Amino acid sequence: MTVFTDKNIILGVCGGIAAYKSAELVRLLVKQGANVQVIMTAAAQDFIAPMTFQALSGNPVRSELFDHNAEAGMGHIELARWADMILIAPATANTIAKLSQGIADNLLTTVCLASAAPLMIAPAMNQQMWLSDVNQENIQRFKNRPLVSLAGPAQGEQACGDNGPGRMEEAQTIVQECAQLLQDMLQQQIEKQVLSGLLDGQRLLITAGPTIEDIDPVRYITNRSSGKMGFAIAEAALEAGAEVVLVSGPVALSAPEKVVCYEVRSALQMHEAVFKQLDNVDIFIATAAVADYRVEDIATQKIKKTRDSFTLQLIKNPDILADVSALADKPFTVGFAAETSELEKYAVDKLQRKNLDMIAANQVGIDTDGQPKGFDVDSNELRLFFKTPEDFIKQKKIPEMSKQQLARELIREIARQYNK
Ligand code: PMT
Repeated sequence: MTVFTDKNIILGVCGGIAAYKSAELVRLLVKQGANVQVIMTAAAQDFIAPMTFQALSGNPVRSELFDHNAEAGMGHIELARWADMILIAPATANTIAKLSQGIADNLLTTVCLASAAPLMIAPAMNQQMWLSDVNQENIQRFKNRPLVSLAGPAQGEQACGDNGPGRMEEAQTIVQECAQLLQDMLQQQIEKQVLSGLLDGQRLLITAGPTIEDIDPVRYITNRSSGKMGFAIAEAALEAGAEVVLVSGPVALSAPEKVVCYEVRSALQMHEAVFKQLDNVDIFIATAAVADYRVEDIATQKIKKTRDSFTLQLIKNPDILADVSALADKPFTVGFAAETSELEKYAVDKLQRKNLDMIAANQVGIDTDGQPKGFDVDSNELRLFFKTPEDFIKQKKIPEMSKQQLARELIREIARQYNK
């Protein structure tokens, strides 16, 4: 058995000299147990004959969107649903541009748009085309999408005589990348199953992202937070069966469809939104990086630089987490501690001082390479501290992993402690 056994894979072949390598791709995928259906663009057929793919895959090759005979067998929407994964190799700049914009003007681009399957793209083009601003923007758009991965391109000599990035990766490497993508998906499915039902019927309120404290109409004070951690926790809580309400500061993320999300700007607004939503909340998780202070008098006009220095008078914001956990009928309360030093000392202090049930501590800051740690990045590690019924403090480490996985581990631990 391999990760490809009985997997349905659509191989999209576009018009490029590398199309000959796609024949080897079909052979390798079929050898590892996959069912492969090939879709060729019109241009691809100028480089390699459909018969080659038909012989290697054992399936008729599709290329026309409105082919009545083929549609009678399996319509293009059915084909899109059939796929466990779509691989496009070679992927030309033209097809990449169409896919990045959601254009569906041939069978391949239509099937991609109609499919929820993960997409692996193996670009192949002239190095100047690959490096062009517009192509890089299109590629960047893919990198921000879940379930889309890139295999290559490789560097080297090109058919046109140029040398640089744009060669299609070797078939063996592409197959390995596809195996990794399928493996990751499998892992995610297992993690989702493990969470399933753990928080059925519970109502969770989660804060996420930064808050913004205005100084004047053009300037503000804020904390570093992308919201990724909080949004991942909301997603994991949904997977565990909870009803989820999110109160978020300004972030560039969209909340999962089933999450009710309230967008706020300042700490005061976040405090108000949280207290409006607290009814029947079973678990409160404070992931937000709330500004501890706000400007006492926000200037109504832009402050002019007439003086060499000036002092901003700041006043303390209410502590949302501490206020929630001070309630007589408080929910199970989980705080976060973002520390640049003495993680355990400060986290345990917050756990006790704010009367929390659990605290998730993370080291934040900028590492020696200038890279952010904890905030603004896709992965993180946590140390959890919680009180036992005997009032001992226990701790558990969750090693570095993606924030999605980390959120699932955290939700699993919260459910375990909450259900005790
Ligand atoms: O958003 P990302 O880019 O993914 O980054 C994630 C994160 C680093 C922001 C997150 O993991 C994190 O650590 N969030 C808490 C940040 C923080 O403000 O920590 P703190 O140690 O200053 O605050 C302690 C706790 O009190 C936090 O739960 C905070 O939400 C809460 N708090 C703080 C001040 C305040 N006025 N109200 C609060 O509720």
